Amino acid sequence: MRELKPDVDIESITNESTAEDAIIRLSDAIRYHNYRYYVLDDPLVTDAEYDKLLLVLIALEEKFPTLLQSDSPTQRVGIEPRSSLDKVTHTIPMVSLKTVYDKETVLSFDKTCKAELNKSKVEYVAEPKFDGLAVELEYENRKLVLASTRGDGITGEDVTANIRTIQDVPLTLQAFEDENPPSRIIVRGEVFMDLEDFNKLNQERTKNEEPAFANPRNAAAGALRQLDSKITASRPLRIYLYGVAEIEGREFSTQMEVISSLQKWGLRVNLGMTRLCDGIEEALQYYTEVDSERDSLPYEIDGVVFKVNSLSEQAKLGMRSRDPRWAVAYKFKPRQATTKLHSITVQVGRTGRLTPVAELEPVNIGGVTVARASLHNQSEIDRKDIRIGDTVIVERAGDVIPQVVKPVEDLRSGKEKGFKMPKKCPECESQITMSHDLKSSMCLNLNCPAQLRGGLTHLACRVGMDIEGLGPKRVNMLIDHGVVTDIPSLYKLKKEDLLTIERFGETSAESLIKQIQDSKTQPLDRFIFALGIPTVGLSTARLLAKIYPTIEILMDASETELMELDSIGPEVAGNISRFFSLESVRNMITELRDLGLNMSSDQSDPATESQLTGKVFVFTGKLENTTRSDAQKLVEDLGAKASSSVSKKTDYLVAGPGAGSKFAKAEKLGIHILTEKEFEKMISDL
Ligand code: IVH
Repeated sequence: MRELKPDVDIESITNESTAEDAIIRLSDAIRYHNYRYYVLDDPLVTDAEYDKLLLVLIALEEKFPTLLQSDSPTQRVGIEPRSSLDKVTHTIPMVSLKTVYDKETVLSFDKTCKAELNKSKVEYVAEPKFDGLAVELEYENRKLVLASTRGDGITGEDVTANIRTIQDVPLTLQAFEDENPPSRIIVRGEVFMDLEDFNKLNQERTKNEEPAFANPRNAAAGALRQLDSKITASRPLRIYLYGVAEIEGREFSTQMEVISSLQKWGLRVNLGMTRLCDGIEEALQYYTEVDSERDSLPYEIDGVVFKVNSLSEQAKLGMRSRDPRWAVAYKFKPRQATTKLHSITVQVGRTGRLTPVAELEPVNIGGVTVARASLHNQSEIDRKDIRIGDTVIVERAGDVIPQVVKPVEDLRSGKEKGFKMPKKCPECESQITMSHDLKSSMCLNLNCPAQLRGGLTHLACRVGMDIEGLGPKRVNMLIDHGVVTDIPSLYKLKKEDLLTIERFGETSAESLIKQIQDSKTQPLDRFIFALGIPTVGLSTARLLAKIYPTIEILMDASETELMELDSIGPEVAGNISRFFSLESVRNMITELRDLGLNMSSDQSDPATESQLTGKVFVFTGKLENTTRSDAQKLVEDLGAKASSSVSKKTDYLVAGPGAGSKFAKAEKLGIHILTEKEFEKMISDL
């Protein structure tokens, strides 16, 4: 009989063999409680009782460190950060599912199955389609030995250390209901985040001025692909397993049997929502029911999956090139909600670009509260005829940020007001220039506080002047306390100035000053990039530094001359010459030179061969620090390829706000998705 609450007195244990016995009893009880709590959702002890068992085990392991086992229930805290995740090859490719959006296509799927199997009715297992990341877990001799992401289906990433921090995942398989686990098994499932945890995490991030995650799936992906598993451990990830890729010493005959055995070995499956359907009509009924329950589920699902239940029938039906013929994912419609558009505010970005933002009556769209949505530009607002006071349809589909789809014209009272972008900058009241197509309006004042905040953060970033410890929070602090008023004043900062700010102590002030001063010797290409000239990203900055040996020579280059350079188009050339023609810019550069910043290049060729050689990148959405074409050039400089469409061959998708179908496709193909920040980090780490 299993003990539920082993009574262990640490003090009285003095020799290793008694300790070992106690550790085994405690570990066994804790594993069982984990199973009851995480897998069955039916705990037998209180949280306090559980915590006490865990504390006793920790204390024992500390007293007898040689007895510590790697799969002890205490070993979930995460390990030291790594510099990259190792690659893992999936011996059986992790294929995806054929996705369908309407009943007719589901019926034709069923028709094919019936015809191929020569049956009048096929038995299906219907399951939720969890909206997270596919993973594979390998257990050998019951122990979790490897966990990997899907990657491109063939090669994924080793996330074992991160997966180990997820409480749902057993580190050792057990025979919980008297069915012994197999000696080797590879299972597959989905890692995700519960909505409540996601919302809490975002609140926390907003409070700490960190960017919020757009949806639970992104939050889960961010957590799972961490290099530092301690961060993963602090994020509330969950898992549901739904299949077996390989198994030794056990045969199954149906998918239903697979699911229930997994549960008996301690793996979390969603038995409650798995339904055996006798024929496609029952499966369609399941779709309707689950669709209507969708909003009350604690996590996101984006559809349902129908799988032929019999494994021999599955084998008979076989595979297409990328997906099995025996399963189909029937997706739900994108989630929409209507809400009131109270006002339109205008945000000023780092480069001075103005973006209109819809301020909405907060509305819950599938568990995620949406209160703001970008309206992109005047032209978009005009095209959709969006007016202040309108009731609008807001959509949150696979996209990164919520979209205002359109106004509900029937609900207009007549009091709605049209919107025009302001003529003066909302931050500094300078004149705004608007492009002819109404797609771009800019504030040109370099010292505009909004631009200064963004500009300093950009200047200090890793690929720019690389001033460690000067992130957005600190930048705000320096500006709010008036110790920094423009870029040169950053380089004039003294320790005493920082000490007037309560958040700084001797050490932190000294260290920041040193970082700032050390950054003066950064090479010219970084300095050019750090200036934040609109549309001048890393690649253009490198090119300019290669051709113009000093900043003065660059400043005097004419627009026509710049345009003659390979890969610089009229827009970029115009931006560069306009930027350097501003008196404020010229004065700033003189001042920075006097402060000792390096402004000449050493003329050594930047590296052309790198770890990125041969990799394929796709860029989508809006990039904050560079343009898409510049980023494309940059990866090409580094020996990689830039492509405009996502395919199986894509290695990385760099996605900014507004990413839509490419993002969804990359997700589906399991392609490595990077934010602009992660991309910059990757480049600077080369
Ligand atoms: S079965 C050969 N079952 O959907 C079948 N997949 O588009 C492989 N997913 O990569 C997958 N819930 O990440 C299966 N109940 C479920 C699922 C599920 C979510 C994901 C999985 C897969 C993608 C396929």
